[in-house]
Amino acid sequence: MNIIMAKNAGFCFGVRRAVDTVYEQIKKNDGSPIYTYGLIIHNMEVVKDLKEKGVIVLDNEDELRAVTKGTVIIRAHGAAKKIHRILASQNLKVIDATCPYVRRIHQIVEKESRDGKRIIIIGNNGHPEVEGITGWAEGEVFVAESEADAVILAEKIKENACIVSQTTFNYNKLKKLVDIFTEKCYNGTIVNTICNATEERQVETGLIAKEVDVMIVIGDIHSSNTAKLVEISRKECANTYFVQTLKDLPLALPETTTLIGITAGASTPNNIIEEIQKYVRTNF
Ligand code: F3S
Repeated sequence: MNIIMAKNAGFCFGVRRAVDTVYEQIKKNDGSPIYTYGLIIHNMEVVKDLKEKGVIVLDNEDELRAVTKGTVIIRAHGAAKKIHRILASQNLKVIDATCPYVRRIHQIVEKESRDGKRIIIIGNNGHPEVEGITGWAEGEVFVAESEADAVILAEKIKENACIVSQTTFNYNKLKKLVDIFTEKCYNGTIVNTICNATEERQVETGLIAKEVDVMIVIGDIHSSNTAKLVEISRKECANTYFVQTLKDLPLALPETTTLIGITAGASTPNNIIEEIQKYVRTNF
């Protein structure tokens, strides 16, 4: 079987940095508890391994307030300003593993909202990254996830808006939503904050999916960037399979398959990608 392996598959810079940070802390640990605020990345295999090594996930503010000692690591997706304040007020060691590209969005949102702009985040409502970004606005803040949301918001906010995007948002979808806003709003600031790693991965996925008979996208069910790769791939290749681990791989592929493409979301560990790639080479 011939395979096209995406060059940009797997851990991006921000995810690698966050995961390495936790493992470093485990190595250095003197026995005091290590926490992550939220899941360090959206991959349950990684989270499971960290849990086995004693890392505790804090799911919400109340759990965070109850912590009295140890180290708290902020996940790659970042956290709201309020969370940083709570952490600063407790006697805890804090390690901020927020991806610098996400941190940049926090800074833009903080500054622009201070200057009186209303913030529009183009992204998935309820996603931790979007919740974190929302929490840096000092005034009104809105999230637009779809064209329908953009139409409603554009009617409401006719001026003085600052538009940013979730780092992993679909680039083509972002362009459409931004067009809706720019038609109705004036005096706005638009900052494309989709991260390069995401854009490259999405473009590459679309190109590979166009060429192959079957496309395999590897990632966690909770990973928003993986979901977007699946969406992009399905547009070009009807035989797109979304798998979390080797167990999810279909046993049989369409008979005419001669070329398979493989890509993976930014939070997919290398060992899972390699295992699947090896299996596909030897068994299909
Ligand atoms: Fe950061 Fe981009 Fe990865 S924002 S976490 S490098 S997808």
